[in-house]
Amino acid sequence: MISIPAHTAHDGTKIPAVGLGTWPMDDTQAEEAVSQALGMGYRLVDTATNYRNETGTGRGVARSGVPREEIVVTTKLPGRHHGYDETLASFEESRSRLGLSYVDLYLIHWPLPRVDKYVDSWKAMIELRDRGLVRSIGVSNFTAEHLTRLEAETGVLPSVNQIELHPYFPQDELRAFHADKGIVTESWSPLGRGSSLLDDPELGKIAEAHDVTPGQVVLRWHTQLGAVPIPKSADPVRQRENLDIFGFELTPAEMTAVSDGPRRRLGGDPTTHEEF
Ligand SMILES: NC(=O)c1ccc[n+]([C@@H]2O[C@H](COP(=O)([O-])OP(=O)(O)OC[C@H]3O[C@@H](n4cnc5c(N)ncnc54)[C@H](OP(=O)(O)O)[C@@H]3O)[C@@H](O)[C@H]2O)c1
Repeated sequence: MISIPAHTAHDGTKIPAVGLGTWPMDDTQAEEAVSQALGMGYRLVDTATNYRNETGTGRGVARSGVPREEIVVTTKLPGRHHGYDETLASFEESRSRLGLSYVDLYLIHWPLPRVDKYVDSWKAMIELRDRGLVRSIGVSNFTAEHLTRLEAETGVLPSVNQIELHPYFPQDELRAFHADKGIVTESWSPLGRGSSLLDDPELGKIAEAHDVTPGQVVLRWHTQLGAVPIPKSADPVRQRENLDIFGFELTPAEMTAVSDGPRRRLGGDPTTHEEF
């Protein structure tokens, strides 16, 4: 079994250096994929209320037989439940669907600045952490401005910010901000959603030089940036491949070459995107 290094967030939480994404799996697929992944060594699992597969994810955790304390189960608060009381209630529904007594990492999925309730939600998340129902609290898709406001109004910084990050969108500034504050960066769509990114001939050459696949080069690139990729795959061969990224090292020139292409987002802009 491959053993995975871990990052330590400013609150002491250990975040495995690679995880499993579960969107857009349904409950049945998530149960199978999560159980299989945990069996081969994954210890970080990413779901969300809005993925509608928390039940399957929780079943996969139970079925894996892996000791609960070794696993970092992540889920996320949806936009429609922003607000203090709504967050407490939404969390309880997530915890019940997951079938767990506690959640390891609970994230605000999107900031929704127009709605302007993410600070209230954050206060509820602090409460959940203080009650021992969540081990660590974080956010997703927050900008430096949103993070600064959370710290200014509550004194508590997220342990993790899960953001869009891949070679088309390397997020240099936000990653530097996170590093300065001890916030762990998690990368969503780390493989660019399996898009044409992986067909790049330059990437192919680097992969050949290390006797790995283009996907492994991209995931290794994330880890050398200090970010935690959470690639989604239900396929056992790809799941194993995506975990096996700690036995080679990209040179500085290769690191530059991986992200030396056009810049573009695949998902929404956090300053305007609304997901309810
Ligand atoms: N916080 C947020 O707002 C947010 C937004 C989007 C996603 N996420 C999270 O991030 C996770 C990952 O993002 P994502 O699913 O959008 O994109 P991704 O992980 O970059 O790409 C997934 C796609 O790549 C394929 N793939 C997986 N491993 C591969 C490999 N080694 N070589 C070639 N292709 C490979 C998968 O196909 P197969 O399944 O057929 O292997 C799938 O089509 C999601 O599952 C979700 O948990 C979070």
